Amino acid sequence: MFSTVVLKKFEKIKTPFYYYDLSLLKKTLHVLTSSAGKFGFIVHYALKANANKKILHEIKNAGIGADCVSGNEIKEALASGFKPGSVAFAGVGKTDEEIIYALNKNIFCFNCESQQEIEVINALAGKTGRTARVALRINPDINPNTHHYITTGLEENKFGINKGDLENVLKLLQKSKNIKLTGIHYHIGSQITDLSSFKSLCIKSNEIQHWLNKRNVFIEHINVGGGLGVDYHHPEKNMIPDFESYFKMFHDFLELQKNQKLHFELGRSVAAQCGALVSRALFIKKGVQTNFLILDAGMTELIRPALYQAYHKIENISAEVLRKSESKTNKGKTLKSGDENQIKYDVVGPICESSDCFGKGIMLPETKRGDLIAIRTAGAYGEVMSSTYNLRKKVKAYFGK
Ligand code: LLP
Repeated sequence: MFSTVVLKKFEKIKTPFYYYDLSLLKKTLHVLTSSAGKFGFIVHYALKANANKKILHEIKNAGIGADCVSGNEIKEALASGFKPGSVAFAGVGKTDEEIIYALNKNIFCFNCESQQEIEVINALAGKTGRTARVALRINPDINPNTHHYITTGLEENKFGINKGDLENVLKLLQKSKNIKLTGIHYHIGSQITDLSSFKSLCIKSNEIQHWLNKRNVFIEHINVGGGLGVDYHHPEKNMIPDFESYFKMFHDFLELQKNQKLHFELGRSVAAQCGALVSRALFIKKGVQTNFLILDAGMTELIRPALYQAYHKIENISAEVLRKSESKTNKGKTLKSGDENQIKYDVVGPICESSDCFGKGIMLPETKRGDLIAIRTAGAYGEVMSSTYNLRKKVKAYFGK
């Protein structure tokens, strides 16, 4: 991802910033669309993962749809050229204004999460003289074996309609003249690396579909949400997620009825690996038990480690790429990584919070003030979750072709 040419360009840019490798994004999109195409599956990109305009532009060009969780995400998707008919609108708390906006744009589908939401959408659709296409987001009570903050399909989570409430929901839908039930929707969580959770989802979905059919309810589409995880530990080795095995799981275990379409809402797996947060070492401070490597990037630029104890690979790219190549040109021999003195650091940011820590006990080549440090796999839920806490400037983004 970081050639010497790229790093030479970085020398002129003020840190911290996000760097996106657009050629990797394009390759990822190519694998994604060809794998989904093989099975006839329809993919929506979850804008919440990264709504940077250039990223959206590439994703739109790949011909996939959009998955939005706010009126502003729908606006951004449409401004980027996604077709209204490809937009799914999810979220437990849609405002009236957002619902009316989405109705007027004639989006593909509202993923509905409660009985009250159905009542409100029905009323607002009546007022605007439209019929709302609705999918029921059902909580399948499946454990995705991921961090509890990004687990969404357990009964205890706020998301979706519990199966026990479905009978009442069907009665409500019969009375809701401005709603057309077109699908069922699930999303069990994010950063799911154990594909067997998706197999459990397929089995649950088949049961629910049979249950609905027995009540004479037939649906046009099933939307299984997103959640496919990425390899945070080995970004170079697994740059592109194994979309093929993921889709095959659904092909093998989810029963689709005639003309029924299967939809996905993928975010992280599309955007994570193409992005890195690039910063500089400000200070190296010897603590009592550890060495602190203090960066000019913090939890304001990338909150995942502070919020979810998430692991991101940290690299001293000045030492690992630049100094290595300089030594090669100077002495005619290549420095292998590991040749430089490896030192253990707690890598932290400048924000006034002890949780502002990117990683503890990280082995890095001996790091000097001014070295460029990359925090990898940050293309999803990175820039988009950044803040201006401590009155910091909104983080900028640069792109490699
Ligand atoms: N569909 C729905 C309804 C969702 O809630 C989400 C993510 C997705 C699709 C996309 O999931 P993905 O393919 O990206 O896993 N900020 C957290 C992740 C939160 C995910 C929220 N929902 C993180 O940094 O790990």
